[in-house]
Amino acid sequence: MKKLSLQGRFTLITGASSGLGLEMARIVARDHKGNLVLVARRLDRLEALATELRAHGVEVVCLQADMTRREDVQRTFDEATKGRSIYAAILNAGVSYFGLTLEQSFESFEQMLATNVTSVVWLAQRFAQHIVAQGDHGGLMIVSSLAGTTPTTYQATYCGTKAFLNNFGVAFGEELSDHGVSLTVFVPGGIATEMGEKSGTGRKFKKGDVGMMDPDACAQIAVDGFLARDRFVIPGALNLMNHFFLRFTPQSTAAGITKRIYRSALAVK
Ligand SMILES: NC(=O)c1ccc[n+]([C@@H]2O[C@H](COP(=O)([O-])OP(=O)(O)OC[C@H]3O[C@@H](n4cnc5c(N)ncnc54)[C@H](OP(=O)(O)O)[C@@H]3O)[C@@H](O)[C@H]2O)c1
Repeated sequence: MKKLSLQGRFTLITGASSGLGLEMARIVARDHKGNLVLVARRLDRLEALATELRAHGVEVVCLQADMTRREDVQRTFDEATKGRSIYAAILNAGVSYFGLTLEQSFESFEQMLATNVTSVVWLAQRFAQHIVAQGDHGGLMIVSSLAGTTPTTYQATYCGTKAFLNNFGVAFGEELSDHGVSLTVFVPGGIATEMGEKSGTGRKFKKGDVGMMDPDACAQIAVDGFLARDRFVIPGALNLMNHFFLRFTPQSTAAGITKRIYRSALAVK
């Protein structure tokens, strides 16, 4: 398959109001002259980003949508494809939970499941159908996490959702390759974004710490892998090394390692 070519075509990015999604949008517009459909709940942030990106001579559409709401997820697809074809879709929106699973509310779990899994499956299938029907060999990307490759203690539900995405994404990508359409699963480790503060992992890992990537550098690797149509992309030498060694580590040992790493931030005895 030829590399993806985003110039003059529309790429949709969910979770574009901050962090990795925002930086990927910048790269698509600035370096590839790609048009964009930006999706998130914080419309003011999307509109400010759209103003910045239009200076690169590209078209930018903002869609306010909440991925926990089924009607918003469906509307995202309907509005994104109304009168335009989407060449590429980057499903990046995600939320995390850091803490004792015994204490996580079921409501918080349901919202995470809807954002990280249910909406991703729905949009991936819809956009894949749309992209296959266009016949111009576009692509999809799902942003997962290294947490999905190993049992991550105190992020049990989060790592569960990302484990789903890793397997779903690679398997669905295999099916899509029969249609000349690629699906890249992007699998970062720690990134210095708002997610640290929102979930609480920021109490342990901060910007500048070993292993914490800057969002712009991480986004560059994501977009490069996406354009190359790579199936499973882990950014950074340290993340690649961790992934390699953890493959030979028993699951219970890995859970114990992550427990030791995180428990001081939780003040668990
Ligand atoms: N940060 C890390 O250490 C890390 C590590 C591995 C993987 N990841 C993954 O990378 C992706 C991007 O995260 P990030 O680090 O860039 O975090 P972030 O800065 O918190 O960005 C998350 C994005 O998702 C959007 N979002 C969250 N809930 C949403 C909802 N219900 N509906 C619509 N949009 C929603 C947010 O927009 P609004 O709040 O405006 O809706 C925001 O744009 C996520 O899938 C995350 O799991 C992050």
